Amino acid sequence: MLEQLSVLPPDPILGLAAACRADTNPNKIDLTVGVYMDESGVCPVFNAVKQAQIQLVSDEQTKAYLPAAGDAAYLSGMTSLVFGDELAGNGSHITAVQTPGGCGALRIASEVLAAASPSATVWISDPTWPVHIPLMGSVGLKFATYSYYNPLSHGVDFDRMASDLKAAVAGDIVLLHGCCHNPSGADLTLDQWSVIADMALEQGFTVLVDLAYQGMGSGLTEDVQGLRLLASRLGELIVAASCSKNLGLYRERTGVALFFGKDMQTAAATQSHGLGAARRVYSMPPAHGALLAGRVLTDPELRASWETELAQICGRMIALRTQLSTKLSEKTNQDFSFIASEKGMFSFLGLSVEQAQGLRKDPGIYMLDSSRINVAALNDRNMDIVVEAVASVL
Ligand code: LMR
Repeated sequence: MLEQLSVLPPDPILGLAAACRADTNPNKIDLTVGVYMDESGVCPVFNAVKQAQIQLVSDEQTKAYLPAAGDAAYLSGMTSLVFGDELAGNGSHITAVQTPGGCGALRIASEVLAAASPSATVWISDPTWPVHIPLMGSVGLKFATYSYYNPLSHGVDFDRMASDLKAAVAGDIVLLHGCCHNPSGADLTLDQWSVIADMALEQGFTVLVDLAYQGMGSGLTEDVQGLRLLASRLGELIVAASCSKNLGLYRERTGVALFFGKDMQTAAATQSHGLGAARRVYSMPPAHGALLAGRVLTDPELRASWETELAQICGRMIALRTQLSTKLSEKTNQDFSFIASEKGMFSFLGLSVEQAQGLRKDPGIYMLDSSRINVAALNDRNMDIVVEAVASVL
């Protein structure tokens, strides 16, 4: 039977990263997967995470299953990190399911949404992270796209976005990127989040926020202002959050699905569907990353150390953006200032597929076909090589 299967095409991001790893060119530069690299080209472990790990190894008494919803310290730490003390305080109606990474959170959220609204259409930005459709589609949800990034103006085309979203109806889901839009780096302004809130109230659609980069764009609080505005105005919101980037827990698969409900009965019912879905798919969440994150988020000293280091990382990425934008503008006589105003790890360079593919062969710079680069993989050694190569094909 299995011989009937044919080999699938490689994943557009992971496949390219694998191709880069396999490339024997000693000068290759990997700008593919969204992983933060420090100046020496290493994805570092946060000092606070190292400390938490030492504590965990010495304190850990058991490897028995975690509760199905996850570790209590982690869940409360993530709830207040995302929603803030005011929204997450007494009287709030928020439930949570710890998940294997942000993908797990998106999958659990999708299962809950499909249970609540089986014929829902999920509205996704054009462009979006290429895994959104296969991941959410695997529970049977349908898709429509809304215009988002305009490659000519290098920014969000909000008029077209709002116009497309006029067709979203009650029972539909609008997927928004909380911050650091993947792949464009172009984020909504707070006024634009407010317009989306008006539309959700008027049209009755539900918003799902994919929050994979809190703290990597402008800061831990700044990056969730839009999401918090929606929660306070709508009284209902689902968030799929990841600790891969902001706590550097990539391989530990640490995420959470958060259900902000209008009342406790709704939040509890929503969580029960999330738990049912988790039981069907993987039963219990992996512990290690969440136990580390729970300690970092709730221990005052570890928390302060983590926030300081994260702010430095965020500052370095902003500096890399400024440097890249200035150097590209000077070298090409074209305007690359948009790179400095975009947020997070990703930006498009505006190259054609052929140009992006050509740079892989010579000089060995790997970016996605869309010319999305991981800005956080640039450093003093490779910055000028990238700038020269991009200028040479423009
Ligand atoms: C990316 O877009 O590169 C990251 O989100 C990693 C991934 O899983 O694709």
